[in-house]
Amino acid sequence: MKILAFVSLFACIALSFPLFDFAPDWPFNAFSLLHGNGHQDRLLKLGPDEYRLASEQEKLNLKRANKRFIDMTEQISIDVAVEQGLVAKPSHSLWQKLFFIGSKQIDTLKKPIPVYNYPKKTQYSSEVKNLYNSIDIDGVRDNLSNFTSFYTRYYKTESGAESAAWLFDQLSNLIAPFKEIKIEKIHHKGWDQFSIIVSIPGEVKDKVVVGAHQDSANLILPNIMRAPGADDDGSGTVTTLESLRIILEAYRTGTYKPHNTLEFHWYSAEEGGLLGSIDVYSRYASAKEVVVGMLQQDMTGYTQGSIDAGVEPHFGLIEDYTSVELNSFIKLIIETYNSIPYHSSECGYACSDHASALENGYPSSFLIESEMKYSNKYIHSVMDTIDRIDFEHVREHVKLTVAFAYELSLAKKLH
Ligand SMILES: *[C@@H]1O[C@H](CO)[C@@H](O)[C@H](O)[C@H]1NC(C)=O
Ligand SMILES: *[C@@H]1O[C@H](CO)[C@@H](O)[C@H](O)[C@H]1NC(C)=O
Ligand SMILES: [Zn+2]
Repeated sequence: MKILAFVSLFACIALSFPLFDFAPDWPFNAFSLLHGNGHQDRLLKLGPDEYRLASEQEKLNLKRANKRFIDMTEQISIDVAVEQGLVAKPSHSLWQKLFFIGSKQIDTLKKPIPVYNYPKKTQYSSEVKNLYNSIDIDGVRDNLSNFTSFYTRYYKTESGAESAAWLFDQLSNLIAPFKEIKIEKIHHKGWDQFSIIVSIPGEVKDKVVVGAHQDSANLILPNIMRAPGADDDGSGTVTTLESLRIILEAYRTGTYKPHNTLEFHWYSAEEGGLLGSIDVYSRYASAKEVVVGMLQQDMTGYTQGSIDAGVEPHFGLIEDYTSVELNSFIKLIIETYNSIPYHSSECGYACSDHASALENGYPSSFLIESEMKYSNKYIHSVMDTIDRIDFEHVREHVKLTVAFAYELSLAKKLH
């Protein structure tokens, strides 16, 4: 009897999949055959010159296969993509689902990345190191505990919107004493979870940005399964939150006031193909905003993979599809301020939100918890939980973030 009830519950869930905008591969292959793959109405960028059309189901399958992409549907309409020869005309026939390498015209979409003169020496090490005494790891843990208690932070869910609202409240309280510091909800077209930007105005409008993504995803069934997302990217979210809190301590006492405008970003919908960040940086590019450097941190708390391999805990500095010059500056920061080293690593194209900055002509870097091969294997599942987080490692990322933000926001003559 119980088994029968269970089976019929399962069948009900299966039949209700058209309500969600995907049909899962497993264990319902037959089902997705019946319903087809849906419309290929998304334009994905999978490499510097690789575009393709995909359905929501195909996007999910790419994610499951660990293929990274930027979903550019809101930036380049499918009509324009066809016109420019980036993709073939959409059709339901199989052969047209294959990749199409674009024509020369793709170059017109590429924005050049300016090179800035980042500092070759650090200047504020006593000020910054003093601030490290204020890092409150218990507070970081409490905030991550709260953030991971949302059932999922998947960008299309109600709890995903609620988690953004919770984060917004924490940030609003934090900046409340400073009327010149701005907080903004960036609403996106097509889903409710907003991105958040906190901005400390500098003497000039050039921006220094540190970012993380707030959404999580369980890649088996993102709309209905739990995704605590403790490491991915709850850890980067609270790293960035704590770094802002520390910077504000210096700001409050008047010992620190940025020259460049310093921004803290928490992106929505990274797991949907960098949807939130590509929206943010496309708006910045349209408004001719200048971003002199952007640092993304996605996963800052897992060291067990390194420990199991007999390797010392370290940062993973991603050196493909990132700014060589900004990476050099980050190496200088790590050597000056951290008690762990970095190891160079690669993650392929568009593996986190820094790719959205780069796509829009802004130099960006990506620092992760370790080399990719030792990074957290439990992400995108119910097992990405807080008990696997090494908060001393998170502390190192906070130290790095505070130093990066402090030194680069005070740097002049970058142009
Ligand atoms: C969470 O973070 C905010 C902002 O940094 C901080 O004010 C608050 O004390 C933290 N919460 C806890 C429970 O520590
Ligand atoms: C999360 O924080 C909110 C308010 O900031 C609080 O009411 C709630 O009890 C917290 N939840 C958990 C699980 O810590
Ligand atoms: Zn992530």
